[in-house]
Amino acid sequence: MSESDENRLAAALARLDAAGDVSEVEAVRIDALGKQGWISQALKTLGTMDPEARAAAAPRIQALRAELSDAIAAKKDALEAAELSARLAAETIDLTLPAPEAPRGTIHPVSQVMDELAEIFADMGFAVATGPEIEDGWHNFTALNMPESHPARAMHDTFYFPDRNAAGEEMLLRTHTSPVQIRAMQEQGAPLRIIAPGRVYRSDSDATHTPMFHQIEGLVIDKGIHLGHLKWTLETFLRAFFERDDVTLRLRPSYFPFTEPSVEVDVGYSLVNGKRVIGGSEGWMEVLGSGMVNRRVIAAAGLDPDEWQGFAFGTGVDRLAMLKYGMDDLRAFFDGDVRWLAHYGFAALDVPTLSAGVGVAA
Ligand code: PHE
Repeated sequence: MSESDENRLAAALARLDAAGDVSEVEAVRIDALGKQGWISQALKTLGTMDPEARAAAAPRIQALRAELSDAIAAKKDALEAAELSARLAAETIDLTLPAPEAPRGTIHPVSQVMDELAEIFADMGFAVATGPEIEDGWHNFTALNMPESHPARAMHDTFYFPDRNAAGEEMLLRTHTSPVQIRAMQEQGAPLRIIAPGRVYRSDSDATHTPMFHQIEGLVIDKGIHLGHLKWTLETFLRAFFERDDVTLRLRPSYFPFTEPSVEVDVGYSLVNGKRVIGGSEGWMEVLGSGMVNRRVIAAAGLDPDEWQGFAFGTGVDRLAMLKYGMDDLRAFFDGDVRWLAHYGFAALDVPTLSAGVGVAA
């Protein structure tokens, strides 16, 4: 321990005082407190001293170290605070400037229609449920009464992943929103009233098919549910969605592995200037798949089919949007062409509400 250590401390403090940025502070720290720094070296010499000399020297060196560390920390804080206030001063916004043009982005018709559907079904007591787009074969097929050998499984044009999951299940991009039926029943039990809008994938591409598209699933599980409930629900939904009281439904027998009986639902349309408009009954157009939930599906999801019954339906959201808002090429939905979006998109503040009519004046 020597006089020169006191001098070195004074020099370091002076250098700190003059430092204009954090890197200069760091240089002072390394010089004194780094591995090869003079204070670190002085601390090392303590071990070689005899006890008396060490007792005298140790408190002095420790005091030097404490004083310098405190000064370094204080200087760092001061520099950081100065930097922050400089940035805050530079980033002010002049609120007296004229406002920018109105936001030019629009809500995509698919998002708009999903919001409309959520609003309509919320009014009937349905909650929104979700599930993963990367599904396993059990949820997408097996639990929906499509075992590995089932022909419907091959008909789905499924995108598979190369590897199976840890449980040995094949992994895929979900081909429909129906696996959310299974997940909702497993997670929430019964009674249950949900809709599940979302993306689905099939290896198919032409003017009316895209590899990714949107569906919405509906599921009601309760006691004593029958086809009448299904028909009323779909009628109420389609009338609210198309905003017409003359929407008529036609239920046709059909087949889905996960519903029994299964019904396909057509809506009546009329021709206005050669264009199909929903309402009336000049012709029929298929819009929905539905039916009473198959007992095997209820059981697969862990509920007792003797106690619980239900109905389910599924339909294409893109298709509903086209029918309501008059687009005729599905592919344009996914092109991201700003001219198309400016024409068919919706203003961000046009939030659908039942009281104002869920749709937006076209
Ligand atoms: N999942 C069926 C499809 O993608 C639609 C559907 C859903 C049918 C629910 C019946 C019940 O075609």
